[in-house]
Amino acid sequence: MASPKNVSMLVGSLRKGSFNRKMALALKSMASASLALELVEIGNLPLYNQDLDPDSPPAEWVEFRRRVGASDAVLFVTPEYNRSVPGVLKNAIDVGSRPYGKSVWSKKPCGVISVSPGAIGGFGANHHLRQSLVFLDMPVLQQPEAYVGGADKLFADDGSISNPATKEFMGKYLAAFEQWIARNAATTTAS
Ligand code: FNR
Repeated sequence: MASPKNVSMLVGSLRKGSFNRKMALALKSMASASLALELVEIGNLPLYNQDLDPDSPPAEWVEFRRRVGASDAVLFVTPEYNRSVPGVLKNAIDVGSRPYGKSVWSKKPCGVISVSPGAIGGFGANHHLRQSLVFLDMPVLQQPEAYVGGADKLFADDGSISNPATKEFMGKYLAAFEQWIARNAATTTAS
């Protein structure tokens, strides 16, 4: 059997009880054996400062770049803050994009899932994030779109997705994402 595709999951919330983290962990447990979803923490990354590149990057940046660079794909799972991308996630994107010419994002297939208790499911964050991903030359899964609203009612106490329709939809999302990774694998590099 071919080795599983390694997917770095970045969660745009640092909150302990985060619905987005719950979603990421639920996806990890639902994923097929051919898809290895791993959380890559971003809360420890020092704020990006161009003065430190390329000569003295913090160790956290170096490790983050190594991990994401070695993965086959990236899955962003994020809340919406003030109709946009939370700063912690934007910082991680900026860290991974430098030094100039060494972006870890380039050509890496990716997906975006936004999760919110609100009715519009983080649509604004989802699309602001896509704006950066286009510039970073990442092929972004277009369909299905994943704007997950009403997040405060979707999870059981053990963190699993208790809403059957949401669970079914997320299963379909993962299947489409896996196909997307395969279709874009030939162009995946960690340049
Ligand atoms: C929010 N929240 C929010 N929700 C939303 O749907 N649209 C928004 O623009 C915002 N803006 C916003 C700004 C800030 C600073 C905070 C702290 C929160 C509410 C947000 O969706 C809610 O707190 C979620 O629970 C955050 O996701 P996690 O932490 O549960 O993953």
